Amino acid sequence: MSKKGIILSGGTGTRLFPLTKAVSKQLLPVYDKPMIYYPLSILMKAGISEVLIISTPDDMPKFKKLLGDGTRLGMEITYTIQENPSGIGEAFILAEDFIGKDPVALILGDNIFHGSSMDKLLIDPQLDGPGATVFAIEVDAPEKYGVVHKDSSGKVIKLLEKPKNPPTNLAVTGLYFYDNKVVDIAKTLRPSARGEYEITDINNVYLERGELSVSVFEKGVTWFDAGGFDALYKAATFVKDEQNSTGNMIGAIELVAYQNGWISKQDLDDMCIHYHNSGYGGKIACSLL
Ligand code: DAU
Repeated sequence: MSKKGIILSGGTGTRLFPLTKAVSKQLLPVYDKPMIYYPLSILMKAGISEVLIISTPDDMPKFKKLLGDGTRLGMEITYTIQENPSGIGEAFILAEDFIGKDPVALILGDNIFHGSSMDKLLIDPQLDGPGATVFAIEVDAPEKYGVVHKDSSGKVIKLLEKPKNPPTNLAVTGLYFYDNKVVDIAKTLRPSARGEYEITDINNVYLERGELSVSVFEKGVTWFDAGGFDALYKAATFVKDEQNSTGNMIGAIELVAYQNGWISKQDLDDMCIHYHNSGYGGKIACSLL
């Protein structure tokens, strides 16, 4: 049985208009790769080779053109349309057949993560166990995100979606691991005050049942929600600087596929030749030295 993950790559992208008037947000460049490469590489690092991409009717053909059926990465990539952006929580209803009886990870298509300590967390076997795991990180403007609320003893008592007065500066990032109960929980959701099926409501159900683990990222982990101009720009600059200084690629799905043993060295070499002109292929080859 291979592990399963969903990338939610729909939405209207209005916070990036006019950039996203004709192009899906998750296909915009983040330095030298389309944005969706970054969340896809995170699922891959978690050992997930069966991936469902959820997007809009308009954008779906472009994702298919970019990633195909995943064979070239030794993966299985399938696609489902979300007709309207009714909320992140709807992903599990749309993905019910894909999920079947298995656990599932969800990553938001505009979330970019990097850090070696993160890579270790991704291979923790507990992520496939019962309950749910979310990841939080300290941020400057928590009111833009899901926020962790703790009591005086430090116990997590609730997750709050975009609270006006955040009780902590711990934001819940867009990477979630669930057991199979998530589908049934998603089916019980009602639209929130802003009219969306909220992922935070799902997480609070797990929390109330005592089945939610909130893992706080250490300092070495960098996270961007690249849904606005400044974050998109900062993410691109970060990737460029980090890659140039370390010589290691971030979000290079071809490289992760090879490191996971899903494709051969010959397959990787062929891709490097295919991407030779842009310099992308050369950078991948150099990462192996
Ligand atoms: O980035 C982390 C944050 O993501 C969390 O802290 C919040 O709890 C969570 O609600 C979410 O907040 P955002 O305001 O950033 O969500 P956004 O509406 O930007 O959607 C995130 C991604 O999911 C984005 O790539 C678009 C996609 N999306 C969103 C919705 C609501 C869909 O594909 N379909 C949808 O219906």
